[in-house]
Amino acid sequence: MIFLNLLKQQTLNKTQSHNFSMKTMMNVQFLPKNIHEAKVDSIVIPCFEDEKTNQYISLLGSDFVDEYQRLRKSKEFSAKKNKIHKISCMGKINANYLFLVGLGKTKELHNETLRRAVATAHKAVKRSKSSDYLSLLNQVDLPDTAFTVAEAAYLSDYSFDSYKTKKKDAETGKSKSEIKTLFLWNTDEKNPSKSIKQLARAKIIAASTNYCRNLVNTPPNELYPEVLAKEARKLKSPNTKVTVFDEKALKRMGCNAILAVGNGSARKPRLIIVDYNPKGAKKSLAVVGKGITFDSGGLNIKPGAYMESMKCDMSGAACAISVVKAAKDLGIKHRVIAVVPAAENMPGALSYRPDDVIKTYSGKTIEIGNTDAEGRVVLSDALAFTEKNIKPDQIIDLATLTGACVVALGYFTTGMMTSDETMATNLHNAGELSGDRVWRLPLWEDYKDHMKSDIADVKNISKGRDSGTITAAIFLQHFVKSTPWVHLDIAGTAFLKESQFYKPKGGTGAGVRLIVEYLSSM
Ligand code: BES
Ligand code: MN
Ligand code: ZN
Repeated sequence: MIFLNLLKQQTLNKTQSHNFSMKTMMNVQFLPKNIHEAKVDSIVIPCFEDEKTNQYISLLGSDFVDEYQRLRKSKEFSAKKNKIHKISCMGKINANYLFLVGLGKTKELHNETLRRAVATAHKAVKRSKSSDYLSLLNQVDLPDTAFTVAEAAYLSDYSFDSYKTKKKDAETGKSKSEIKTLFLWNTDEKNPSKSIKQLARAKIIAASTNYCRNLVNTPPNELYPEVLAKEARKLKSPNTKVTVFDEKALKRMGCNAILAVGNGSARKPRLIIVDYNPKGAKKSLAVVGKGITFDSGGLNIKPGAYMESMKCDMSGAACAISVVKAAKDLGIKHRVIAVVPAAENMPGALSYRPDDVIKTYSGKTIEIGNTDAEGRVVLSDALAFTEKNIKPDQIIDLATLTGACVVALGYFTTGMMTSDETMATNLHNAGELSGDRVWRLPLWEDYKDHMKSDIADVKNISKGRDSGTITAAIFLQHFVKSTPWVHLDIAGTAFLKESQFYKPKGGTGAGVRLIVEYLSSM
């Protein structure tokens, strides 16, 4: 009996208040000095495959020029994309190391190539135990390089180690060294204000992305619907209203879909609204994020291998909240509303079941075919609530919705489904610009029949295993009447088993940079 009570206390006790915001971020600033005068631990130099000489190395003296020629001739360093080579400076200049980083062919240079080069260089510099470095990567011929380099460096510097009692590097296993300052070379002294604004913008967007990653990486015993609500409340300010509906309010309102999914868990569901409404806002965008704080599958329980990492099933919610945070900090002129249906999907005596029929907030009924298709169920209430009460000009929902999306598009690309051509084009472009890319799948009527129920308005699974990502979107479509709406399936992009350049293992912050870019051009 005592043991049982202890157990109860342990699983339900209030955890210590957690700080999800970033640790102090690295400094990024301009260094308006000549390259050979810089007193820094390391210098990063951009190199192109098709350039036989390097203008920056020429500034460092003939010893370095000779060494560069030798490295290129011997093919020890090819300057191909993401290749890196460390040179010890041995007292010839003030820095300890030079890092040559490859950018591939001059003509093929792309923003994403630059971001990846920044990540490759940043990690190598970190391994060299440098505490500051000068990067010349902002010198390449692309627009807004100060922004791109700073943002990618901030994103590459991220690590999630708040649960490690001894701080060690995740990749090398050795104790960690921190980079305190990244200097960018400022040759454009005549117009520094534009560049300085770019650095400030990069810092805000990266901080919001890293904040999103923290929310996703936090274990599900520490982050459940109530905690997510508490976190959202921190965004409250004169222009930002936060509303949290608890289980009693949800019941009164008729949000039976959110309640059904959350009912198997001791952690009760919430509907969280964060409404950033700046003075003079003319347009509004609602960002609806799936907030399943853990997806065990419910009664249709997942096998172990599939259940692992299902703390990431609130990545859409984390993104929605982080987008509002970024919009606030950037002072974006549009109204941006995060709408988060938060629940934990667990098996239990009170769990919803296959065969249940739920009357949703919209009035439409859902037949449950599988309790593991829970994301679309909570989103049905959230989407209908948004359209009816918030009446935004546009809705974007983000959800780690289907394993099928991972099969279709893998880990680099978010799935996009919409019948609004303008939103599709603008989001596609925002993806190309930000590197947070999306690819469209069709939402044609042909798929409609898949989600028919014999006894209710719609069923939460389709008959076959085919086109699972699209049929999930077809289900969601039932709950948006007329508002221009885009569904983003981030099942593949929100959480990684292997890091991708500036995206770490675990939570990536997928969707944050995409939607901030979209809002900036709205
Ligand atoms: N959260 C999962 C989808 C998922 C899978 C996200 C892998 C991230 C990585 C979702 O709730 C789910 O379980 N979907 C089912 C739907 C099926 C039962 C129709 C799936 O994809 O198998
Ligand atoms: Mn599921
Ligand atoms: Zn899920």
